[in-house]
Amino acid sequence: MVLIDGKATAAQIKAEIKEEVDRIVSNGGKRPHLAAILVGHDGGSETYVKNKVLACEACGFQSTLIRFEDDITEEALLAEVDRLNCDESVDGFIVQLPLPKHISEQKVIEAIDYRKDVDGFHPINVGRMAIGLPCYVSATPKGILELLRRYNVPTSGRKCVILGRSNIVGKPMAQLMMQKQYGDSTVTVCHSRSATLKKECQEADIIIAAIGKPGFLTADMVKPGAAIIDVGTTRVPDPSRKSGFRLSGDVDFEHVAPLCSFITPVPGGVGPMTICMLMQNTLSAAKKEFYR
Ligand code: GUN
Repeated sequence: MVLIDGKATAAQIKAEIKEEVDRIVSNGGKRPHLAAILVGHDGGSETYVKNKVLACEACGFQSTLIRFEDDITEEALLAEVDRLNCDESVDGFIVQLPLPKHISEQKVIEAIDYRKDVDGFHPINVGRMAIGLPCYVSATPKGILELLRRYNVPTSGRKCVILGRSNIVGKPMAQLMMQKQYGDSTVTVCHSRSATLKKECQEADIIIAAIGKPGFLTADMVKPGAAIIDVGTTRVPDPSRKSGFRLSGDVDFEHVAPLCSFITPVPGGVGPMTICMLMQNTLSAAKKEFYR
């Protein structure tokens, strides 16, 4: 069994990005600049955004954090999005989700200039990804593809089961795993209503679990030799931790790991890769790799 080390892979990719940025800047080019909008004080969002700013520093990027209280109006937030769309010093930006209930997330996402949408959430990027055109691919599926590639996990012609159908993981993951230029796999998407979920998993060569149910994927559901990617990051209470919680994956790691060819741990698997893929997208934005 190979334990896929997302933390080490992410550190290596960030070092590769830093090297490229140093080269660009020493040749007189512009330092990549990521801006992030954070609304309110949600604990998870605070942590994510803080880590995004730290990752920018590690990559040699400029970063700007823009904070609003959670009573900001939708109109004011849309105006800020428009300001960033027009700010030529900003290569890419994100609006951290979730947003307060009185603000339409979809409206905000669609207000972002798709050329600066380094989260890859705008329908233009989602659509281009679905038909295999150059675009910003959202960070979690992109990070999983990168782990599969760097660890030489065989995917071409293999059966891949995806657990979960969310817009930010399950759906894009399915689109990418089926495409010849990425996974080239035979893809099945299962969700909470799938009658044959257990059987599908038992037949899978690769399982990507993204349903947010701690320990859901158990050893009896896994074919010996399968590769397992765990996207779950549910916070479960843990009084022994300073934070009061720990992260729990969707996989019963203790019993599944001995069966597998490859497996990602939680934490330290997919999680660290996501922020690093946001950095890659920001570098692509600065280089105008996809759009002029
Ligand atoms: N909230 C949870 N994950 C993400 C993400 O990847 N991007 C943004 N903008 N918000 C999130």
